[in-house]
Amino acid sequence: MSSYPSRAIQIDQNGGPEQLKLVNVTVGEPGPGEIRIRHHAVGLNFIDVYQRSGLYAMPMPLRLGMEAAGVVEAVGSGVTHLKVGDRAAYASQPPGSYCDLRVLPAKCVCKLPDAISFETGAAMMLKGLTAQYLLKRTQPQGGLQAGDFVLFHAAAGGVGLIACQWAKAMGLQLIGTAGSDAKCALAKAHGAAYVINYATEDFLTRVKEITAGRGVKAVYDSVGKDTWDKSLDCLAPFGLMASFGNASGPVAPFSPAILGPKGSLYVTRQTLFTHIATRESTQAMADDLFAVVTSGQVRIRIDQRYRLEDVQQAHRDLEARKTTGCTILTL
Ligand SMILES: NC(=O)c1ccc[n+]([C@@H]2O[C@H](COP(=O)([O-])OP(=O)(O)OC[C@H]3O[C@@H](n4cnc5c(N)ncnc54)[C@H](OP(=O)(O)O)[C@@H]3O)[C@@H](O)[C@H]2O)c1
Repeated sequence: MSSYPSRAIQIDQNGGPEQLKLVNVTVGEPGPGEIRIRHHAVGLNFIDVYQRSGLYAMPMPLRLGMEAAGVVEAVGSGVTHLKVGDRAAYASQPPGSYCDLRVLPAKCVCKLPDAISFETGAAMMLKGLTAQYLLKRTQPQGGLQAGDFVLFHAAAGGVGLIACQWAKAMGLQLIGTAGSDAKCALAKAHGAAYVINYATEDFLTRVKEITAGRGVKAVYDSVGKDTWDKSLDCLAPFGLMASFGNASGPVAPFSPAILGPKGSLYVTRQTLFTHIATRESTQAMADDLFAVVTSGQVRIRIDQRYRLEDVQQAHRDLEARKTTGCTILTL
């Protein structure tokens, strides 16, 4: 069986960015249902930090990364939606996208439209599909209608700036929070109807002011520990608390009994990987994403680029809240 050389980023144990090591590996032929893809660009995501630190426990050694774009080099048996030479992009488990070349299950890999560059494809698949499932598939009772208020934390981040633009395209009034005035300005410029600097302002007070005391229909919360309690109080009766991350640390255990007096609230913890569990759902969500990107309704901002070998610095900057929009690793 042939083998092909590749560079990859691996950790042997959980810890800080210093654990990220560049290793030389070999890649084989794809098995049934798999493809081999040569990456042109790789996406960086906050989930990579959780997997590196150990917040999300993974078997070791671990090759990191869950998003990339490139060209299909080989196709295993049973794969019908991709062929050798196709431009493609993905958000996918298992991790291992921080590399030049890899074999992975084809199910989550989508053909990339010609109008979308490899860098944009690598930046947008995990973050864009997340914005898609949050705004379109994770809605409060009765759904979201044009004019409705939603609260979106970390609105100037990778997922955040995509969500700001997509919510505007849906006619929603997205209230975005971010950790500096400059980040707030960025979220506003990308479609947030209102912005709150949660480092200097009390976001609960501001949400009540903005919504004339009524509260929002949904909160999309990826910050976790620091925003959880007040976020529940931002909700209108029957509102939906959609937790999808823990950038500030995990949410502490709570009793469901608190949700009644706050207005019969709904709480859900969402993950992209449930939504993209099948080829059909992945493609349907990706088609929706490709449509808003190619139409120009959603622009994918790549604000940081690092060489693969500089991945430690990329992780440091992401964790230190120094990044905005999307970040990619170049090869
Ligand atoms: N469940 C899912 O399906 C899913 C999928 C994709 C992403 N996510 C989650 O969505 C979030 C956004 O992901 P992303 O990759 O686009 O990252 P990102 O938003 O570009 O970066 C994370 C942002 O979180 C904010 N933050 C607040 N408190 C923080 C803290 N203590 N430490 C670090 N950052 C803090 C920072 O923005 P400010 O400075 O403005 O506060 C930071 O820029 C992450 O929590 C990620 O895990 C979940």
